Amino acid sequence: MGENLKEIGLAVIGCGVIARFRSEIARDYPGVKWLGLCDLREDFGSKLADDASADFFTTDMMELVNRPEVNAVMIVTEENRHFDPVKAAIDAGIKKLLIEKPLATEAAESAEILKLIQDNNIDASIGYTVRFNRRFLTVKERLQRGQIGDVHSVVTRAFMNRMVPIATVRKTNERHNMSPMVISGTHSLDMSLWFLEGKTPVSVYAQSVDKTLAEWGTKDSTFGVFTMDDGTIFSMNISWGLPEVWPGSVYGLEIGIVGSEGVIDIEDTHRDVIMATNNPVGHGYNPDGYEPGVERHVDFLESYPPGSYLDGQLWGANRDETLSWFNRITTGVPGPHAIAEEGHRNLLLTMAMDLSARTGEVVKLPNDLNDLIDRF
Ligand SMILES: NC(=O)c1ccc[n+]([C@@H]2O[C@H](COP(=O)([O-])OP(=O)(O)OC[C@H]3O[C@@H](n4cnc5c(N)ncnc54)[C@H](O)[C@@H]3O)[C@@H](O)[C@H]2O)c1
Repeated sequence: MGENLKEIGLAVIGCGVIARFRSEIARDYPGVKWLGLCDLREDFGSKLADDASADFFTTDMMELVNRPEVNAVMIVTEENRHFDPVKAAIDAGIKKLLIEKPLATEAAESAEILKLIQDNNIDASIGYTVRFNRRFLTVKERLQRGQIGDVHSVVTRAFMNRMVPIATVRKTNERHNMSPMVISGTHSLDMSLWFLEGKTPVSVYAQSVDKTLAEWGTKDSTFGVFTMDDGTIFSMNISWGLPEVWPGSVYGLEIGIVGSEGVIDIEDTHRDVIMATNNPVGHGYNPDGYEPGVERHVDFLESYPPGSYLDGQLWGANRDETLSWFNRITTGVPGPHAIAEEGHRNLLLTMAMDLSARTGEVVKLPNDLNDLIDRF
C-alpha cells in the first residue's frame, strides 16, 4: 500500500453529489490539513468550496493536483469521466487515490487506468460504498469463519427507483454503456463476489428488457446467472426501472447465500423504517437540476446507500468508507475497500452480462478477462 502519509493534503476532483459528502467529512477530519476542490462548473464548485470551508478552488484539475500541499486525490467525476483526473493525479506523482465506481465505462479505458495504477505502484481504493454497510461486514465475517460451510448458491436481487438512472444518463450523450449493471448493479455484483472470495466466474448468461427506459437510452432490468470455477451458481438480478413513487428512494437489496451447512438471508430493502405522509417527502437522489415531476408521499427512510443527513452531517456507509480511507492512507490499516483490480474485474463482468444479453449467448469468461475487451 506504499508509504503512509503523516498528514493529508486532499484534492477532490468533481464537486457533485458524492463529492459533497466526502468533502464535508474531510473538512471535519483532523488529519486533513489542507482541502482543495475542483469542478469544471465554477458557480457550482465554489459553492461546495464555501460550504466545506475548502482552502482552494479551481476549475483546472491540473492546477489542483500540482499544488505542493496535495498528497491524496479523490476522483468524484461522472462515471464516464474518471480517466483524465486519474491520469492527472498519477502524472503529478500522487500515490493515494480514491476513485468512484465504476472504474470507467469503457473496458479499454478501465484497463489503461488499472495499468497506470499498477505501473506506478499507486494505492487506489474504489468507491464500493455498500461494503461499508455494517450488515454486510458481519455477513463477510461469518463467511470467513466458515459458519455455513461451503457456499454453492447465491441469489442477489437489486431494486432501484428509476429516478437514479434518469438522473444519471441525462448527464451524458454517451449512453451505450450506461446500463443497469455497469452503473449500479456493479455495487451488488461487487458485494456478492466479495462474499464469494476465492471463487472465479467462468461463464455468464443474462437477459435484459427495456420497455420503460428505452427512451433514455438504457435498459430497465438485467437478470443473469454466473457459474463459478467450482460449480457454484450466482444469480445477479437488477431492475432500475421502478416508478418514481416507489418508496425506496434509491436502492433495495436482497441476497441469499446457501452453503453446505447453513444459509444467510439478507434483507436490505429498508422496509423496516417507513414514513407515509400527506406532505411531499422529496426525492432521495437530487443531482443538480434534476426534478422527477411527481410527488412522493411514502419513503423507506434508509434507502439512500451513502447514509442519512442530520444537522448537516451525513451518517452511514459513505462516512465509514471515507474515514476508513483516511485511516488506510495514514496508518496502512487496509479496511474493506475495493481495490483497482476488483474495480476493473467488476466492469468487465458487468459488461459480459450486457454482452450475453445482447447476443443471447452464454459468455465464457477467460482466465484473463481482458481477452473479452474486443467483444464489448
Ligand atoms: N459510492 C457511491 O455510493 C456512489 C453513489 C452515487 C454515485 N457514485 C459515483 O460517484 C461519481 C460521481 O457521481 P455524482 O452523482 O456525484 O456526479 P455529479 O454529476 O453530481 O458530479 C460530478 C461532477 O464532476 C464534475 N467534473 C466532470 N469532469 C470534471 C473535470 N475534468 N474536472 C473537474 N470537474 C469535473 C462535473 O462538472 C460535476 O459537477 C460517479 O462515478 C458515480 O457513479 C458513487
